[in-house]
Amino acid sequence: MAGRLITLEGIDGAGKSSHLDFIAERIETRGIEVVSTREPGGTAFGERIRTIVLNEKMHGDTETLLMFASRTEQLAEVIMPALARGAWVLCDRFTDSTFAYQCGGRGLSESRIATMEEWVHGNLQPDLTLLFDAPLEVARERLNVAKTSPDKFEREQSDFFSRVRAAYLQRAAQFPHRIKVINSARGLVDIRTCLASLIDSL
Ligand SMILES: Nc1ncnc2c1ncn2[C@@H]1O[C@H](COP(=O)(O)OP(=O)(O)O)[C@@H](O)[C@H]1O
Ligand SMILES: [Mg+2]
Repeated sequence: MAGRLITLEGIDGAGKSSHLDFIAERIETRGIEVVSTREPGGTAFGERIRTIVLNEKMHGDTETLLMFASRTEQLAEVIMPALARGAWVLCDRFTDSTFAYQCGGRGLSESRIATMEEWVHGNLQPDLTLLFDAPLEVARERLNVAKTSPDKFEREQSDFFSRVRAAYLQRAAQFPHRIKVINSARGLVDIRTCLASLIDSL
């Protein structure tokens, strides 16, 4: 018995988290257990890392190592046990975020991140990655409307997000069978129709 790992990716404000419950319910109607979680975080220890990494300035390597530290805890405590009992795991961000933000956005070495990926989850990749893609201005406007206080990443300038978005799209081109690009500039209803067919085909 093995579950499935589905990850949600995209720049801040693209509209990932808005669809988490919809996707979970869609899977649950098939009688499958769903575990929803997020990165960084997802465990008590990981949430403490999240508070630090989303709010404090640090070296880019430190940021990357903390992301993988949180991920290691999450895999050991949440993801692997859930998959082993046949549950499907929905994770709001995973390793593609590290490639997009720390490599694309901050310019860290891709091969170093690949080495850490191999170390932390060399034998596991998501079964499906939903990449929520929207122009930077659309994402920025959504964050402005939401009026939540921005974290360290959300305060970055548009050239940072344009590099992050480009890195995501490059990964989608590299792994077309796993990563599905969702045009998230559309309304919620249209996006859900698209998500439903992707989820139902798993
Ligand atoms: N398709 C959409 N159309 C309009 N507003 C949206 C859409 N998707 C998300 N939003 C709004 O944009 C904001 C950011 O969405 P969220 O899902 O939190 O983005 P993310 O998790 O990608 O940062 C929220 O206030 C949300 O209600
Ligand atoms: Mg979110």
